[in-house]
Amino acid sequence: VAPPGTLVIFGGGGDLTKRLLMPAIYNLDCAGLLNEDFSIIVVDWAEMTSEGLISQFREAIDDFVNKRGTSATLLRHDIWNRLTQNISYLRGSFEEESTYDELNARIEGRNAVFYMAVAARFFGSIVDFLGSSGLAHESEDVYRRVIIEKPFGSDLESAKALNARMLRSLDETQIYRIDHYLGKETVQNIMALRFSNGFFEPLWNRQNIDHVQITAAETVGVEKRGRFYEGTGAIRDMVPNHLMQLLSMTAMEAPTSFEANAVRDEKAKVLSAIQPVKLDDVVRGQYVSGSFGIGDEAEALRGYREEPDIALGSQTETYVAMKLGIDNWRWAGVPFYLRTGKRLRRRKTEIAIHFKQAPYALFRDTPVEQLTPNIMVLHIQPTEGVTMQFSAKVPGPAVRLGGVRMKFDYSEWFSDGPSTGYETLIYDCLIGDQTLFQRADTIEGGWRIVQPALDRLAAEHSPLCFYPAGLDGPREADELLARTKRHWLPLS
Ligand code: BG6
Repeated sequence: VAPPGTLVIFGGGGDLTKRLLMPAIYNLDCAGLLNEDFSIIVVDWAEMTSEGLISQFREAIDDFVNKRGTSATLLRHDIWNRLTQNISYLRGSFEEESTYDELNARIEGRNAVFYMAVAARFFGSIVDFLGSSGLAHESEDVYRRVIIEKPFGSDLESAKALNARMLRSLDETQIYRIDHYLGKETVQNIMALRFSNGFFEPLWNRQNIDHVQITAAETVGVEKRGRFYEGTGAIRDMVPNHLMQLLSMTAMEAPTSFEANAVRDEKAKVLSAIQPVKLDDVVRGQYVSGSFGIGDEAEALRGYREEPDIALGSQTETYVAMKLGIDNWRWAGVPFYLRTGKRLRRRKTEIAIHFKQAPYALFRDTPVEQLTPNIMVLHIQPTEGVTMQFSAKVPGPAVRLGGVRMKFDYSEWFSDGPSTGYETLIYDCLIGDQTLFQRADTIEGGWRIVQPALDRLAAEHSPLCFYPAGLDGPREADELLARTKRHWLPLS
């Protein structure tokens, strides 16, 4: 059970709190992990009462519970009522001292976590005020921690500046930089899979692995986030953070323990071994109009430039593919291909480990294209599990090979409770475990790798490859792999 304390949510009147944070806190309470003496203060600028806010939360939690749809997850009123009795609203500006004076009065002497569910432009000033008001000050019996959402900076320089600014008011041990991918069970499972089993790790190196593909494909478009996305684009939105987490989990050395810094040291090391991306190895794409499906059933999809709040001639990428290399003993010469994009054929996040071919002396008469490559796919979402693809003998008198698959499906083995992905992250912060949070150096490491692509974007309009919505992304991304006779696993 977490120690007593208060969670202060700056910007808690917004969507994130309703959709994800409150359901996560409720789930933690149902699991008996919250202290009886746990309270929440929501700080926001809108005219609102605590009662009004709680009824908004109620609507959202009903929605959340309904979507789970089973009787086992009907709202537990006893828990919900007790939890919401301890929620209060504080109306105030994030940039006025009086807000922080009031907070000081309300949480004096208590443990507190300050959650920044606000637009990134407020991060710096909130932290400054936490420092100058004394709210960030810890004592022997009282902790003060800050959870900060992404985007953490918009390039290497701004991320460094934000880190430096935060570290003026806080110690690194007080800072919890969220990457919500680290809250996903299947992302955490990468480490379990690699380091708790004897048979993967001996093969996990350049002697046996030909290349690795990391995919985060989405079917959604830019939705209502046009204004944010125009200034961000797929590289900033997904690569230095989420994809680098997947990459570092896949490529890191085994940490000596699960202690936060032991794990983060290994991630930092692998990131520092990655050379900044070469411009020839980046493909930027943008979706144009297309459709999901064909024929009468087809759903027409508009192009990115027709979406709300998007400039007519926008040069923002909604897709990016890139090739990276890791200059260390384990991975030298093994390309890591990354791709992510919006409005693609399917929603699918996965890591595909392509193993080298066996020396097929025995099967010298089998045409190469009929040999099934050995691929191990770690499915992150929406399917959760692991598949292995390999060759087997096709039954019959002749010796023929056929491709087969072996599959482990998470949901078949484990009954998963309702989860938003934020439960572990919030709980870990309450108990002071930073393992699943980004450290200053891992954040900067991610930005350093993509910085050449960002510089080029700033200096000139680098080429943008258009792709029809609802399909697989730009042709040029296929060419990136075809140069070395490789190809992406299909999205379908
Ligand atoms: C967010 C990005 O960080 O991650 C979004 O800002 C993206 O643009 C989302 O859609 C993807 O997260 P998930 O959990 O759906 O893979």
